[in-house]
Amino acid sequence: MSSDQKTFFIETFGCQMNFHDSEKVIGTLISQGYRRVESEEDADLIFYNTCSIRDKAEQKVFHRLADYKRLQQQGKRFAVIGCVAQQEGEKIFERAPHVSLVAGSASYRHLPEMLVQIESGARATGLDDRQTDETFETAFTARSNPHRGYITIIEGCDKFCAYCVVPYTRGKERSRSSESVLAEARQMVDSGYTDIQLLGQNVNSYRDPLGKKSFAELLAAVGELAGIRRVRFTTSHPRHFTRDIVEAIDAVSTLCDHVHLPVQSGSSRVLAAMNREYTREQYMERIEWLRSTRNREISLTTDIIVGFPGETEAEFEQTMSLMREVGYDGAFTFKYSPRPNTPAISLADSIPEDEKTRRLHLLNQQQQEIQRARYARHMGQVIEVMVEGYNDPRGQVIARTSQNKTFNFIVPAGVARPQVGSYVSARVTRTFPNSLAGEMVVPIEG
Ligand code: SAH
Ligand code: SF4
Ligand code: F3S
Repeated sequence: MSSDQKTFFIETFGCQMNFHDSEKVIGTLISQGYRRVESEEDADLIFYNTCSIRDKAEQKVFHRLADYKRLQQQGKRFAVIGCVAQQEGEKIFERAPHVSLVAGSASYRHLPEMLVQIESGARATGLDDRQTDETFETAFTARSNPHRGYITIIEGCDKFCAYCVVPYTRGKERSRSSESVLAEARQMVDSGYTDIQLLGQNVNSYRDPLGKKSFAELLAAVGELAGIRRVRFTTSHPRHFTRDIVEAIDAVSTLCDHVHLPVQSGSSRVLAAMNREYTREQYMERIEWLRSTRNREISLTTDIIVGFPGETEAEFEQTMSLMREVGYDGAFTFKYSPRPNTPAISLADSIPEDEKTRRLHLLNQQQQEIQRARYARHMGQVIEVMVEGYNDPRGQVIARTSQNKTFNFIVPAGVARPQVGSYVSARVTRTFPNSLAGEMVVPIEG
C-alpha cells in the first residue's frame, strides 16, 4: 500500500437511495485512486452524505461541520453531499469555510471532475443539475452487502407533496432505461446476488425512456432472471400504483410478498391539503387489489404523518381507523415537521408539539397491537428465510422472510449453522410484534 495514496471517510444519513448513492460515490472514489478508511482521523477527505427530510436537519449538519473544524488544521478536506447540500448550497461555504465540496445527488456523475478541482485546492460545487435528464450510472458501485443489492431505477421526484423537501433536493424525475437496469441486475446475479431491491423515491412512476417496459414489466423481468431469489421495490406512490404491479407479484414467485405503500393520512381532506393526489377511497381500492391475489399473501407497510397543519381530531381518528382497516405489518410514523422551501411551511393552524406527540403515541400504541395480532398469525408456519447474520449470545440465526419480517431461529443440535446469504426454512414457535422466532427445519437427506 503506497503511503501517498489518498484516503477518504464517508458517513451517510437518510433513505436507502442515499445509502445506495454512497455505494456509488465510494466506488467512484476508489476508481479515482482513493482508499476508504474507517475513521475520520485517518482520512484526507471526509464525505458527509446528508438527509433533509425532517427535524431541522440542516442545523444538525451545521453543528457537525463546526465540529469538523478542529480536523481542518490537520490538512483534511470536507465534502458535503446529499439533500442538505443541495438545499443549503453555497450557504454551506459561508457558514463552514473549511468545506471544499458541496454537491447534490443530481450532480454526482460529475464527481471525478469535482475531485480534481478540490485536489488542486479550489472549491467545487455541484448544485445546478436538478433539471437534468441524466441519471448517475457507474460501473464502480461498491456494494456493502454481497447478497442483497440495490439498483436505482428512477431518480428525483415530481410529486411536490406539500410537506416534502425531496423534489427540491433531488430534482426532477428521470428514469434509467430498462436495458441498463436489466444489465446491472444480470451482472449482480452473475456475481452472486440473489436479492435485489429496485429503488426510487417514487419507484412506480418509472417510465422507460426508450418505452420498452412498464414498471410492472421491468419488475417481472428482473424477477425472471435465472438465479434470482428475491426482488423488492421501494417506495411506491399510491397515485401510480397500478393493478398490473399486483398481477406481476401474483405471477412471478421471486417478487417478494411485501409492498410498502405510504398513505400519510386516512383523511381525504388532509390528503388533498398534502397534495397526495388520491383519496382514502382510492387508496383502499389499491389495498383491495393487494388483498385479492390468488397465489400470495402480500404484507403491507406504510408511512404516516400526524399533525399536518389543520389536522383535526376527527381527521386524526380517520388515520387511526384506516390503519385498523388495512392491518399493516409495519408503519413508519412521523410528527409533521416544517421544512424549508415546501408549501406547507406557510400554512397556518399548526398543531402544537405536545398534541403531535399525543397523536403519534396513540398511533404507535394501536399499531403495536395490530402487529402483535398479525405476527401471531404466523404461529406454526414453516417459512423460507434468507440468513443475514447471527446473534451469538442467544445462539440464534438472524434471517428475513419474503414479507420482510425478521425471523430469529435456532439450529438443532448437531446441524451446521447456515451461511449468511443462504436460504433455509424455519418453523415459527413464538411471535412478537416486530419479529418471529423458531427453529430451523432440517431438510431430510436422500
Ligand atoms: N417517496 C416516498 C417517501 C419519501 S420520505 C413517498 O412518497 O412515500 C419518507 C417519509 O417521510 C414520507 O413517506 C413521509 O411519511 C415522511 N416525511 C416526509 N416529509 C416529512 C415532513 N416534512 N414531516 C414529517 N414527515 C415527513
Ligand atoms: Fe416527497 Fe411526496 Fe415525492 Fe414522496 S412523493 S418524495 S413524499 S414529494
Ligand atoms: Fe433524506 Fe434526501 Fe432521502 S431528504 S430521505 S436523503 S431523498
